[in-house]
Amino acid sequence: MQQRFKATIVVLAVLPIVATATGSRPIALVKDAAKGPSVTLGSFGRLPDGRAVELFTLRNGRGVEVRAINYGGIIVSLKVPDRKGHLDDIVLGHDDLEGYLRKPAYFGAIIGRYANRIAKGRFEIDRKVFQLATNDGPNHLHGGERGFDKTIWNAEELKTKDGVGVMFTRTSPDGEEGYPGRLDVRVTYTLNDRNELVFEYFATTDQPTPVNLTQHSYFNLAGDGRRDVLGHELVIEADQFTPVDSDLIPTGELTPVAGTPMDFRKSTAIGARIAQDDVQLRRGRGYDHNFVLRRNGGGLSRAVRVLEPTTGRTLEILTTEPGLQFYSGNFLDGTITGKRGHVYRHRFGFCLETQHFPDAPNQPSFPNTILRPGQEYRSKTVLRFEVQR
Ligand code: GLA
Repeated sequence: MQQRFKATIVVLAVLPIVATATGSRPIALVKDAAKGPSVTLGSFGRLPDGRAVELFTLRNGRGVEVRAINYGGIIVSLKVPDRKGHLDDIVLGHDDLEGYLRKPAYFGAIIGRYANRIAKGRFEIDRKVFQLATNDGPNHLHGGERGFDKTIWNAEELKTKDGVGVMFTRTSPDGEEGYPGRLDVRVTYTLNDRNELVFEYFATTDQPTPVNLTQHSYFNLAGDGRRDVLGHELVIEADQFTPVDSDLIPTGELTPVAGTPMDFRKSTAIGARIAQDDVQLRRGRGYDHNFVLRRNGGGLSRAVRVLEPTTGRTLEILTTEPGLQFYSGNFLDGTITGKRGHVYRHRFGFCLETQHFPDAPNQPSFPNTILRPGQEYRSKTVLRFEVQR
C-alpha cells in the first residue's frame, strides 16, 4: 500500500493537467492520454474519526478518466470527450470529502444491501419476519441509515488484460441495518479502451437475505452539472414499468408503457412529457420509476441509450439485471452546491440504476432477490460512452 502511494505521487507530478485561462476548469489533454491505461492511488481526505479515504484514478488510452474513492465506492468524477474531443466531468458530486458527508444524496455511490425501497422496511423469509431501518418516511431506502454508500470499503487497484480498475470489498455484518446474515461483497469498476466502464457485483451470505446492488451516479452529459437534464434524449428498452403508490412503493402490477409518458421505446427527451398531468409522474414528482427491461437471453442486454444533443455525448447501458430505475433528479432543489461551486438545481442530474425491482421481497410475482447460503450473487452492468457527430 505504502509503496503504491509513493509511486502515485510521482505519476501525479507528470500528469497532463492544465488549467483554463479562467482557472476554473482543469482539462486533461487527450493527446497525452494516449499512453495506455493507468491506475493511480491518491488521497481524498479523512473521515471525522481519522480514517483516511483513498482515491483511485483510472485512465484509458482515449482520454476517459474515472476517479473513485473507497468511501461508499463513490465515483467522484467521470470525464469523457464530446464530439470535438473536449473532456468534461459528466457526473454530479463534490470537490472534497466534506461535501459528501454534509448532505448525502447517494451521488456516485454503491447502493446496498438493497437498492430502492422496501415497504415499511419489513419482509418475511421462510416465515420469519425481519425489520429493517426505516429512513424514507415509513419505508426502507437504499440500504438504510448507513448503507453501503456511507461505509469505508477495502480497495485495491486492478490491472487486467482488458483494462484498469479498482476492486472494493467489505463484509456487512449480521444485523447491519436489520438485515439477516453476514454478507461478503465485492464490487469492481473497470475501465477499458472501448470507453466502457464496467461494474461487477458479487456477494455471498451465511443466512438467507435480500440483495440488490447498484451504482447511483447522477449524470449530466452536457458536462459540469450546470443546467437541467431535460434535453437529454432517452431510449429505454422496456415495454412495461412497475407503477408506484404515493410513497413510491410498487403496487405489484406491471403496466404497459404504451400510451403513457413512460414510453421511451422511441428516442424521447426527458423533458418532453415530464410536466404532463399523469398520476405516476405526480407520485414520482417526475420520473422515479422502475422499468421492466426487455431482455434478450440471460447475459448482458441493452437497457438504455442516452444522447445529449448539444455535445453529442452518448451513454449506452447494458446489464444482466431485469430492471432499471430512471430517476430524473426530482429531489434536487438547489440546496446542494457541488463541484466547482455549481448549485445543483431541480433536475440538474439523472440516475439510471440497474437493479432488481423495488420491494421485491414483498412482491412474490417480481424476480427473486433472496440470496441463500451456498449461492452466489452476480450482477454486471456496462456503461459505454461514445459520441454522435
Ligand atoms: C432513487 C430513488 C429516488 C431517490 C433517489 C435518491 O433513485 O428512487 O426516489 O431516493 O434514489 O435521492
